[in-house]
Amino acid sequence: MKLLFSKEVIARRIGQLAARINRDYGERPVVLVVLLKGAQLFAADLCRHLTCPVRLEFMRVCSYGAETASSGCPRILLDLDEQLRDCHILLVDDILDTGLTLHHLSRHLRQHQPASIRTCVLIDKYERRQVAIAADYAAIELQQGFVVGFGMDYNEQYRNLDAIYCLEAEDLAKESHP
Ligand code: PRP
Ligand code: MG
Repeated sequence: MKLLFSKEVIARRIGQLAARINRDYGERPVVLVVLLKGAQLFAADLCRHLTCPVRLEFMRVCSYGAETASSGCPRILLDLDEQLRDCHILLVDDILDTGLTLHHLSRHLRQHQPASIRTCVLIDKYERRQVAIAADYAAIELQQGFVVGFGMDYNEQYRNLDAIYCLEAEDLAKESHP
């Protein structure tokens, strides 16, 4: 496993991102719709930097099984239990990869008739993009690599790591043949 971003770098990038969000939203209240499980650590740090009134809501969406490639069809496992009509939604995820999760979720959330929807990710990774979607806010931009740590998993492992690592071919082989 190779270290990509230390906890100090991550903290600095999240602080810079939050400053942009604070400037853009001003006093307007924002609803963070946090996608479990991956975005929980990012959202926890981000929300503590925000100066506007913040409401936290959670959804659980699943696109990956025990694989490193997207299944192509994200499923909503836990939906919102409240209407978000006329709210400013900031959809928070750990990583924008193929884009299917955020594309699907943005469409789904439009049914709530919010005042606005923007997307905010810890990592915007370009390599495998399948739909034309760009994050409105991204703390880190990355070309490629299977990343874990800071909420992100491989087979539910590594979410608790406080830095971001890239899994290498030998790590993946080790996991499937312990
Ligand atoms: C991962 C990740 C993002 C999504 C990104 O979630 O947390 O939500 O995939 O991939 P995409 O851009 O290709 O759709 P996953 O569905 O694996 O669930 P998790 O958050 O519980 O890890
Ligand atoms: Mg996720």
